[in-house]
Amino acid sequence: MQTLLRTIYDDVKPLVGQGKVADYIPALASVNPHQFGIAIYSNQGELFQIGDADVPFSIQSISKVFSLTLAIKHYGEDMWQRVGREPSGLPFNSLVQLEYEHGIPRNPFINAGAIVVSDMNQSRFASPHYAMREFVRRLSGNPDLKTDQVVADSEYEFRHRNAAMAYLMQSYGNFENSVEEVLKSYFSNCALRMSCVDLAKAFNFLANKGYCSISNEQIISEQETRQVNALMATSGMYDEAGSFAFQVGLPGKSGVGGGIVAIVPNRFSICVWSPALNKVGNSSAGVAALESMTKQIGWSVY
Ligand code: DON
Repeated sequence: MQTLLRTIYDDVKPLVGQGKVADYIPALASVNPHQFGIAIYSNQGELFQIGDADVPFSIQSISKVFSLTLAIKHYGEDMWQRVGREPSGLPFNSLVQLEYEHGIPRNPFINAGAIVVSDMNQSRFASPHYAMREFVRRLSGNPDLKTDQVVADSEYEFRHRNAAMAYLMQSYGNFENSVEEVLKSYFSNCALRMSCVDLAKAFNFLANKGYCSISNEQIISEQETRQVNALMATSGMYDEAGSFAFQVGLPGKSGVGGGIVAIVPNRFSICVWSPALNKVGNSSAGVAALESMTKQIGWSVY
């Protein structure tokens, strides 16, 4: 496996830095685009890593999987009355469907969907972001995970589009808490800093029928695990979900910090990271690395 990682790393290295680092807030725009890391964690607890796999970065939309998991644990099937399960085929921050579809977001991985999931967690926890961070610390076995307050504050300052979605959902009755408080929790979740190693470990329960062997807990049921993987496969890569399924063939979730997590069910959880993004907001080198990996080993859920 280590030899394979080296081959992929060398193959993809020339692409590192191609594309554009997220620049919608200054705190993300200043990240060095020439970083690249990969980590793979097996269901047997073996860790393989290469490059900048220990460097923490802003997990951004990857956090949407953690908040969804927390909501599923509490609400189960009921949560699907407030958020759909269909791919949107539109950019992650698009507003248009939300009005046509009466304030019910298409899926939990577009921003509107993740904000409504954050509203569910807000109803349940006194400090939803701390609850989420504690949960992720347990999943990854890293008690030192930190929230980047500069990123969280800056996202809140430039919140207008996300706030518009939240207020629109509120106007349709699909919101229970203060929009501003929910946005703060949502942005704090996005601003969590984790490395490829942390993320590969934290996502292993999705490769392992819902069981986290790091904290020794059944996180969600086997069926719920399949459902989360299905949502990642259909909506985890935004309007690139189709070509990602075509080229990589694994459930995946990206974030504008340049991280991508992918799941090989019953075997491995993977995280790749490189901050320069393609035009839909997914890491260019990250997608290329996953494509090269699955081609060489023939991993695919299809
Ligand atoms: O809400 C936002 O726009 C960001 N905090 C998260 C966006 C994100 O990572 C979308 N992903 N690719």
